[in-house]
Amino acid sequence: MFKLDHKSITNGIKAIATSALLVSVSIAAPATVGEYEIKNKTAIDGGVTYKRANGNYAAYKYNEQSTKGVNFGREATANEIKAWDVDALPDGTGLPEGEGSVELGDELYEAQCASCHGEFGAGGNGYPQLTGGNQDKDENGIVITLKNQRVYGSTDAPKRTVGTYWPVATTLFTYIRDAMPYAHPKSLTNSETYAITAYLLANNGIEIDGVEMDEEYVLNKEKLMKVTLPNRDGFYPNIDGPNAQEDIRAFFADRAKNIGSGTRCMTDCKDPGGKDGKTEASVVKIKYEMSDVVPPYSTVRDLPPVVENKSVSKAETLYNESCKLCHATDSMGAPAVGDTDAWADVMEKGFAEVVHNAIQGMGGMPPKGGNMDLTNTEIKQIVEFMVDSNKKH
Ligand code: HEC
Ligand code: HEC
Repeated sequence: MFKLDHKSITNGIKAIATSALLVSVSIAAPATVGEYEIKNKTAIDGGVTYKRANGNYAAYKYNEQSTKGVNFGREATANEIKAWDVDALPDGTGLPEGEGSVELGDELYEAQCASCHGEFGAGGNGYPQLTGGNQDKDENGIVITLKNQRVYGSTDAPKRTVGTYWPVATTLFTYIRDAMPYAHPKSLTNSETYAITAYLLANNGIEIDGVEMDEEYVLNKEKLMKVTLPNRDGFYPNIDGPNAQEDIRAFFADRAKNIGSGTRCMTDCKDPGGKDGKTEASVVKIKYEMSDVVPPYSTVRDLPPVVENKSVSKAETLYNESCKLCHATDSMGAPAVGDTDAWADVMEKGFAEVVHNAIQGMGGMPPKGGNMDLTNTEIKQIVEFMVDSNKKH
């Protein structure tokens, strides 16, 4: 239902106002108010249907403004945007004032985070690991981060932690402040958040300005801005900065290297063979016959047998199968079977026209209710049944 706005959401207020008006002047007949019509004001949604370009009414309002922009609501005020705009950019813009020590962070972490993220952020309880991972260095002292996994293919698969994976530390601050602890986010003050951030960075062995973060280390905005996480440049293509476009183009231009063009393979690749028509492909052959496999589902359909039931007419059976889903109530915008008023409106068009509409479809009503197996005669019989059902009430 994309491109459509459900009426009760977009025009709820309008609809309520209008039905109140209807009550006060007690108009019995359906009222057309501008682009919509009230058909059944006792319905849960006020019975509002919307006029279509083709003159029909439907339960949904088309957003005809989609090419001109959204036309409801109002522009957010500067203050409203400010209230939402609380993240800090990689360069530190947006970080609040405040400060906190590794030591305090340790206490807070133990009390509020360790139950899920494990002692020292080591994970293990099914929640994300926040420290460690793979920060091994090679013989040249280069951290073997995710970036270098391709170069150092034989090292253990890296764990994605804040230390090994996250590109920027300011995200750590805002993430903790806005999302953690899981059960009651936004409960930490900015200074407490600095403290926990400091603690996690320290446990990840991060140095700031060449200084190791010990217990007494106090983190604040200025210092956090200076943090460069090990995997900062490990993402490629680099989609940030002035060269982003070129980087992306270069990445895709060198398909063989960066994406693979059928020549790359993992370490245990088999010789594909077969290319010269003589060598047999050395892929592992399936050794078993599948004959002893019991199919999980029966291929025989156990539909309930069709019983001739004198009390239920063929038309009613067909109605139950193909139409009831939408017509039992008016919640789908269809005239509900049994709703005398709604059907009185429908029948104003005349029976032939109504049958025609049921066959051709109209508004939210698919042609033949979506069951193209029904013949025109059957549709006519069902509509007769629907109309008759109303008279009984
Ligand atoms: C009740 C369990 C629970 C507690 C307590 C908790 N967290 Fe989390 N934390 C989670 C879950 C679950 C996720 C993953 C959320 C997601 O991916 O949507 C997560 C994710 C994180 C992440 C992102 C990890 C990553 O690599 O994506 C950080 C950082 C984090 N938590 C820090 C903290 C801090 C700091 C505290 C204490 C103030 C804390 N958490 C308390 C459950 C918890
Ligand atoms: C997917 C939901 C849906 C199904 C299934 C469905 N209908 Fe409808 N039907 C509607 C809606 C919505 C309308 C109201 C259309 C409008 O007013 O624009 C409607 C309207 C009608 C009307 C009134 C037409 C008119 O001229 O106002 C008839 C008659 C009708 N349906 C018959 C049927 C029959 C017969 C079936 C089963 C074969 C069926 N419908 C199945 C949704 C459905």
